[in-house]
Amino acid sequence: MDKFSIYKSYLKGEINVSGSKNACLPIMAATLLTDEECRMSNVPDLSDIRTMIKILEVLGKRIQFYQQKLVVKSKKVKRYTAPYRLVRTMRASFCVLGPLLAKRGKAKVSLPGGCVIGPRPVDLHIKGLKQLKARIRIEDGYCLADVKRLTGNHIFLGGHFGSSVLATTNILMAACLAKGETIIEYSACEPEIVALALFLKRMGADIEGEGTPLIRIKGKKRLGGAELRIIPDRIETGTFIAASLATGSPLIIKNARPSHLISVIEVAKQMGAKIKIKENSLIIKPPRIIKPTNITTLPYPGFPTDLQAQFMVPLILAGGVSLITEKVFPDRFMHVAELNRMGAKISRSGPYSIIEGVKKIYGAEVMASDLRASAALIIAGLAAERKTEVLRIYHLDRGYFKLEDKFRRLGARISRQKQ
Ligand code: UD1
Repeated sequence: MDKFSIYKSYLKGEINVSGSKNACLPIMAATLLTDEECRMSNVPDLSDIRTMIKILEVLGKRIQFYQQKLVVKSKKVKRYTAPYRLVRTMRASFCVLGPLLAKRGKAKVSLPGGCVIGPRPVDLHIKGLKQLKARIRIEDGYCLADVKRLTGNHIFLGGHFGSSVLATTNILMAACLAKGETIIEYSACEPEIVALALFLKRMGADIEGEGTPLIRIKGKKRLGGAELRIIPDRIETGTFIAASLATGSPLIIKNARPSHLISVIEVAKQMGAKIKIKENSLIIKPPRIIKPTNITTLPYPGFPTDLQAQFMVPLILAGGVSLITEKVFPDRFMHVAELNRMGAKISRSGPYSIIEGVKKIYGAEVMASDLRASAALIIAGLAAERKTEVLRIYHLDRGYFKLEDKFRRLGARISRQKQ
């Protein structure tokens, strides 16, 4: 297992944002809707992407992956089981269920289980597919589904926490091959859904309303191959904005899609940052003293839960008291205890964290609990006095493409070592 050693750093310069993992994974799953060749570019080489490649190979796809280009072809053999050993490592694998069922009439996909950020149910995925007239049962930890042909329906997909990104992708993909029209109400509006819809349209699907809470799909008998460049990763972009604020370093973030980060830019401005947008670049000038602010995570276009941990770090160093309310995954605060070990003053109660700004934080040995918490601890290490060691960084390799190299090129003192 690897760990990072990090020292307080001042960053300076430009970085390029990589392709979005969360956009790429459902698009890869969508290739199951056709036997024709599909291509993607700007694909980040991450362990989650490698896991999805393995799942697609098990399901009968042949994949080439080189220089961030992915080519997906079909083998003659078609299987329909996504095994637990692969699904348990990555929840997003559950989004093969919809396309597999729609194309092959049968699917057996392991239930993903919970994770450190909460219980993470899949009831909305199952409800939606049942409403498309699939027969579904749970047996031995697997979701078994079958249908002659899915049939369109009017589906309300909202849950206790609002919309669901991957449930929307599952139902959207399945509905593309269903008989008749499907309407998804309370669909997720994330840019990753819009990217998936664009890919599906290029495959020949008839979709309207993506990016809004109501998506209308007219099912087709078959879909063809397609090609797409994966959108820039908005969470990686936001991670660099948080790093700029926490370390007081001006940064130029290139190859981004600023329009996907309106809520994040708003929060950074409230914290005192000056941000200029020039086409696909963001020029960030952090304040000398960070202003405290309140953040509430919400489904898009609200502030993303995937940036909650990273933005907590500059708030630790703000000149006053801030409040973070986590409305998407109320238990997603594993990083709080680790940040407090570095001298932060955060108290947590249910979905709330109250952060009393301190002048300095200090390096310590800290443990990464999940992907985004790992990024937060790295930012904290870059802002802290003395040495920080972040253990269990394998989480980071799941979702950030060359993050430490990017930080190092900006002048960060960070190195990877064996634990
Ligand atoms: C996706 C992202 C993840 C992000 C999350 C929220 C990918 C691969 N992952 O995860 O990085 O943190 O969106 O923006 O894109 N829920 C239910 N029932 C369901 C499904 C979800 O109650 O069937 C709840 C969840 O527990 C959570 C909320 O809905 O409270 C939103 O979760 P959801 O949008 O589904 O997250 P994912 O799509 O799994």
